[in-house]
Amino acid sequence: MVAPKQGILSVRINPAVKFLARILGPELLHGAWLRLLKSFPLELEPPRGLEVETRMGKLRSPIGLAAGYDKSGKYVGALSKLGFGYVVVGSFTLKPRKGHPKPRLAYRDAEQAVVNAMGLPNPGVREFVKSFKGVTGCKVVASITGDTLEEFVECFATVQDVVDAVEVNVSCPTHEASIRMRRPETVRELAEGLRGIKSKPAYIKIPPPLTPEEMDDVCRLVKAWVDCGMDGVTALNTLPVDAPELALGRGGLSGRPLRPIMLRTVRRIREELGEGVEINAVGGIMTGRDAADALKAGANTVQIMTAMLFRGPRAPILIAKELISDKVW
Ligand SMILES: Cc1cc2nc3c(=O)[nH]c(=O)nc-3n(C[C@H](O)[C@H](O)[C@H](O)COP(=O)(O)O)c2cc1C
Repeated sequence: MVAPKQGILSVRINPAVKFLARILGPELLHGAWLRLLKSFPLELEPPRGLEVETRMGKLRSPIGLAAGYDKSGKYVGALSKLGFGYVVVGSFTLKPRKGHPKPRLAYRDAEQAVVNAMGLPNPGVREFVKSFKGVTGCKVVASITGDTLEEFVECFATVQDVVDAVEVNVSCPTHEASIRMRRPETVRELAEGLRGIKSKPAYIKIPPPLTPEEMDDVCRLVKAWVDCGMDGVTALNTLPVDAPELALGRGGLSGRPLRPIMLRTVRRIREELGEGVEINAVGGIMTGRDAADALKAGANTVQIMTAMLFRGPRAPILIAKELISDKVW
């Protein structure tokens, strides 16, 4: 168990959420919650003064929703009204996927973390493109993944016209193909395949590097990506861990334990690659202080996922207000 660093605000799960999660299971609760939000949308505006210029265009807030919260794309409309600067939807694959067996999502409250082995369940990228109606005031980024280079390129080409940017996920810890795809040489080949067809900003989502060697590899991977004309990186995905509470027995850890790894990675990429790369920081951003630290480390934007599961739909607004009061902005 990783204890939260001193001075970092502790975020505990809402007792009502904890109770319902125990009865329904966290995945069913999440689905019910999304449907409720769609039927009774909340309309929240981020505080003024947080606007940021990115390759996707001007964002009203640097806080985005990370991939995986809405895996179907059916709830983007409702989620776009919660005060995010952008919402990442997916990850989508070319064909629909059922994902791994259940249970595949569990809270680890004491660690301020969540463990999941969802296995990329999604309706397929074409279904999303067909049903997505667009949103106003908030940018939308599609996260895509696949089993082969050809699948990545086809997914990218299929989705790019209906969204503001594409995030290319080569870092799902329970997806064997993702693990093969993340070598710097393979990422260069992928970027070369995308170069000819790309009309929207492209970000690559990387795994959390734990050792100095893995950090070097991640930097090489991002360099290969931007050298081929791609725009930036989303750092980072979940950490592979044993998870006896899930059917698969292993999964990806998200939340507070990722914070120090995310900060190290963002700092190193910024130092190594300079201003030519746009960085979206994600991993353990639960409060405004976490967001402030990520932005100070060199991120252009931040994304949240576990904070939404712990703090609820007001998380982007609460974090934005805390960010302003931290006076980094
Ligand atoms: C339930 C769940 C599902 C996720 N699904 C995806 C996904 O489909 N694609 C992806 O790139 N990342 C996915 N992630 C990873 C998150 O986008 C994010 O990178 C990670 O959770 C770290 O951020 P956090 O500490 O704010 O949660 C998922 C995370 C969780 C908890």
